[in-house]
Amino acid sequence: MSQRKSALDRYALVGHPVAHSRSPLIHQLFARQTGEPVSYELIDAAPEQFETAVLGFKAAGGKGMNVTVPHKEAAFAIATQVGVAAAVAKAVNTLTFIDRDIRGDNTDGVGFMRDLTENQSQRVASATVLILGAGGAARGILGPLLEAHPKTLVLANRTLERAETLSREFAAHSAIEVCKFDELKSLGAFDIVINATSAGLHGEQPPFAASFLSRTTFCYDLAYSLKETPFVAWAQAHGAGRAVQGWGMLVEQAAESFAIWRGIRPDTSAIRQQLVR
Ligand code: ATR
Repeated sequence: MSQRKSALDRYALVGHPVAHSRSPLIHQLFARQTGEPVSYELIDAAPEQFETAVLGFKAAGGKGMNVTVPHKEAAFAIATQVGVAAAVAKAVNTLTFIDRDIRGDNTDGVGFMRDLTENQSQRVASATVLILGAGGAARGILGPLLEAHPKTLVLANRTLERAETLSREFAAHSAIEVCKFDELKSLGAFDIVINATSAGLHGEQPPFAASFLSRTTFCYDLAYSLKETPFVAWAQAHGAGRAVQGWGMLVEQAAESFAIWRGIRPDTSAIRQQLVR
């Protein structure tokens, strides 16, 4: 057993909390499918323990880590080299240990776009897109969304200043309109609506009117849950065309991380279905 274990390359997810994460299962399925000799563990680290957790795992022979809430900005700071997506998002969800270096990448945006455009068959080019929320989750998807050239992109947030600050970071790309939730009423329905608030995580009901939904609106919740998320339930109850949780994004971002580490991208379709079941 110990001999077999030592033959595996070690990876881990570091976050706080991480106990209920599905990432070990996803990476175990990837490893089985591709035949790659990897193991994947969970490391719970409070913010003040983050650096020690990363450096300790690296020193113990770990090959790389996924990083989740609340450490993505700290992971960006600890990286000695970063990929383009991580530089744009100023956040890292994938660390790769290469000799003395710690490379930081961000696969959230590409994972999200792959789920949205390929698995969910949504066309972003020429679509009207609304992002609800202007925190870390919104930051991670803004760059790749803008690159897909939506007709309009509105960033709505409870706190207007935060949306304004975030939009300014992406000003070079194209115009993002910002507004507060109550100003959405005058804008009519959108083609694609993405929930990037953390309201549902705290069990709170979506704090906006349903004016931006129509029978053709596609709603995507970046959050996911074994039950219906509050946003998905709300969108369905208020007449959205379709509303999905972020399970697909979870699997796709994991597949991108796996590809960075192992040079081989797993086939995600069966694993997405297995996970949702
Ligand atoms: P992060 O650390 O990733 O930025 P966060 O601070 O929990 O996460 O906030 C994520 C987003 O959810 C923010 O847009 C936040 O709105 P504010 O900028 O106004 O704080 C939003 N959010 C969290 N709880 C919310 C709630 N109950 N109603 C509306 N928006 C909420």
